[in-house]
Amino acid sequence: MRYLIFTDIHGNLESFLVLIKFAQRRKIDRYLFLGDLVGYGASPNEIIQKIRVLKPISMIRGNHDKAVCGLDTVQTFNPIAASAIHWTRENTLKRNLNFLCRLKQGPLIINDEITICHGTPFDEDYYIFGEFDAAEAFLHIKTPICFFGHTHFPFVYTEKDHFVEGTFLTGDSNETKIEKGVRYLINPGSVGQPRDRDPRAACAIYDSKTRKINFYRLEYDIEEAQKKILEAKLPPALAERLSVGI
Ligand SMILES: [Fe+2]
Repeated sequence: MRYLIFTDIHGNLESFLVLIKFAQRRKIDRYLFLGDLVGYGASPNEIIQKIRVLKPISMIRGNHDKAVCGLDTVQTFNPIAASAIHWTRENTLKRNLNFLCRLKQGPLIINDEITICHGTPFDEDYYIFGEFDAAEAFLHIKTPICFFGHTHFPFVYTEKDHFVEGTFLTGDSNETKIEKGVRYLINPGSVGQPRDRDPRAACAIYDSKTRKINFYRLEYDIEEAQKKILEAKLPPALAERLSVGI
């Protein structure tokens, strides 16, 4: 079984279209989406419509999806993020908002091997930013692998004999072999708003037969995504950050 794992599209259609093309060239049996379809970018409607072409898919909501739906206040968001939440709420068609607001809250157990969550398995809004956070998260996971998003950094945490270790993945061609007796917390990186100073869209493929996870970075039309953000009168900083990947 080959899974495509992806997260944090954040309204960036151009990055998402490249991801869809990439997936169609590979034999993907199941898609796992870890939340934040919208927020920041200018194309919430197109993304909500397009994600339905990826089948079969298991997906959960992110904190921005939740805030756009009014299921959470924007008080915890910085002013730029909050203004994007308001813009998205006003510019998303009702039928698409309905789809967004029906997304399940994580964590979601996919099978005996895999769990998915947005921030952590114990709190969808909490960030895993280091081994201490990861150690806490491991306490709440019942499967050997848990995929998470939210930080927009590609990262692998392992836990063996209560020893937790994190690896930040940079560059191309990263691969992790899943080993027996080890547990994994894995972030594939963000599709639509990478923050690791690599502006390319990020995703991962897990092959449960070879037990390997491969991480990918994909070039996309950043200028077009920026143009749409500026035309939509969203905060210009949201366009600028895309070229540097922060
Ligand atoms: Fe996000």
